[in-house]
Amino acid sequence: MNKIEELALAMIDYNNGDPKRIQHTTKVHAYASMIGKCEGLDEDTLFILESAALVHDIGIRASEKKYGHQNGKLQEQEGPAVAREMLTRLGGFTDRQIERICWLVGHHHTYHICEDLDYQILIEADLLVNLFEDEESPNAIRAVRKNIFRTESGIRILETMYGING
Ligand SMILES: [Fe+2]
Repeated sequence: MNKIEELALAMIDYNNGDPKRIQHTTKVHAYASMIGKCEGLDEDTLFILESAALVHDIGIRASEKKYGHQNGKLQEQEGPAVAREMLTRLGGFTDRQIERICWLVGHHHTYHICEDLDYQILIEADLLVNLFEDEESPNAIRAVRKNIFRTESGIRILETMYGING
């Protein structure tokens, strides 16, 4: 079992009893990995991206426990510490990788324009799944394509999946 698979299983344990959240995480990881490979990320960046995709929503449970509810901001606030603890416990991640993964967890709902491909791809992968789970309208999906999507493979998957080529 490699590190990514180990982390995926640790996240299933962490989200025990919540199949919706577990399946969300698995899907976001699959699209992040797919887009990352299509966009030609180097091995280290792909590893960081895949790890971040697996733990990106780790702050939800912590927010619910602490505040009784959760939202994007609270997830970003609470997620990094929980992610850091899990990555450190599992081992096999360098300090630099942990820092980057935690930064991504802490910013994945902040759609600022940024050239960093790991960050951009994580946001696109999360949106590919969220637009479906939230049953967004074709117009909303077109707006997301225009305003947020940047990578060629992410745009192609979005357009094909939602049939919005026009
Ligand atoms: Fe998510």
